[in-house]
Amino acid sequence: MPSNFPTFGLMRNWETPFGPVYAGQEAFQALDAWLLEHRESYSQVLILTDEQVHEACIPFILGNLAHLGESSILEIESGESSKSLDLLGQLYLALLDYGADRQSLVLSIGGGVVTDLGGMLASTFMRGVDHVLIPTSLLGMVDASIGGKNGVNVGSFKNLAGTFAPSCGVYVQPDLLTSLPEAHWRAGWAECLKHAYLMGSHVWEEAIALRELAHLRPLLPHLMEAKIQRIQTDPFEQGLERKALNLGHSMAHAAEAHLGPDLLHGDAVAAGMWLEFDIAESMGLCAAEDVAAMKNIIDHWWPERLRLDDQVIDRLRGDKKNHAGAVRMALPGAPGAPVTLTEVSEFNIKKALASYASN
Ligand SMILES: NC(=O)c1ccc[n+]([C@@H]2O[C@H](COP(=O)([O-])OP(=O)(O)OC[C@H]3O[C@@H](n4cnc5c(N)ncnc54)[C@H](O)[C@@H]3O)[C@@H](O)[C@H]2O)c1
Repeated sequence: MPSNFPTFGLMRNWETPFGPVYAGQEAFQALDAWLLEHRESYSQVLILTDEQVHEACIPFILGNLAHLGESSILEIESGESSKSLDLLGQLYLALLDYGADRQSLVLSIGGGVVTDLGGMLASTFMRGVDHVLIPTSLLGMVDASIGGKNGVNVGSFKNLAGTFAPSCGVYVQPDLLTSLPEAHWRAGWAECLKHAYLMGSHVWEEAIALRELAHLRPLLPHLMEAKIQRIQTDPFEQGLERKALNLGHSMAHAAEAHLGPDLLHGDAVAAGMWLEFDIAESMGLCAAEDVAAMKNIIDHWWPERLRLDDQVIDRLRGDKKNHAGAVRMALPGAPGAPVTLTEVSEFNIKKALASYASN
């Protein structure tokens, strides 16, 4: 890495409208200092995690939090299927069984599934209790844990029910990635590519050049910043700043609805970006060389294509960006340039799907 990308040993922290974000080697020291100050005001701490993170990360995390005190662990099954209304209902009741009250603290430790569900649980249980997040996946660190969005899937619709809610803090300790399974490194890399493109050519070119994901640590704060800057200026996605983070996501969510929960979100985002960059080129929004650069890097990391056909188009109907029945997408311009939220014709979607299937 060139010298303008310092190593990520030092602590970074940002204030956001949804609470502070701490990242770096000393993230748990920062959390422990916060616990020292605030733990007494909580009646109890309820840790939400999944079975894989429980085994791989919880002993290390708890070993670093001297001031956590007593806590109870609620373990869910890992995977997207857990982000459901049904499980959310069971968790409310489990909290009651543990004697939770409005002075309880929920601590979500896991990937995006756990932090989305934990955020939904904390923001709605008894009209809201405090929440702290420790993301453990790459996708969780650069994206899902930041920005206050929580949610569960309903039927085949992603994040159909959700809240915006602040947390007491997000603590990102990159050492936790050591145990992340390879498939989830790659899935998280899809959101990283999106963030790198939005940050502009200085970060984008570093991302394109990266050949070993295990070496991405110096890029992490820059990738997090892509999201943090946008939520600082447009917290509730009322303008285009935060909507830019939806790049690739209209098609990604449609692909996930079409192919089911076994498809990893990040893998869907990679396909979604390929398709939406193709659409942006057809609509004259993005230059051919920028589209080719994005498609090439996606083809490098995702050599196998998803099996998508025109039925995916029906799945676009429930997208939150749509307006008056028309399908709208956040489409890219040049690296670092604002996105365009625009209506997209069925013709251009079909053309992109045909091109994706035939390449
Ligand atoms: N709220 C938001 O703004 C936002 C943004 C992007 C994505 N998301 C959501 O995030 C979810 C995807 O998140 P994800 O990719 O982290 O999936 P995930 O939570 O399913 O985690 C991926 C897998 O890796 C395991 N894992 C996580 N960290 C580990 C570690 N350190 N060691 C060993 N195993 C580990 C988990 O058990 C799981 O099996 C989707 O539901 C998506 O909708 C939310």
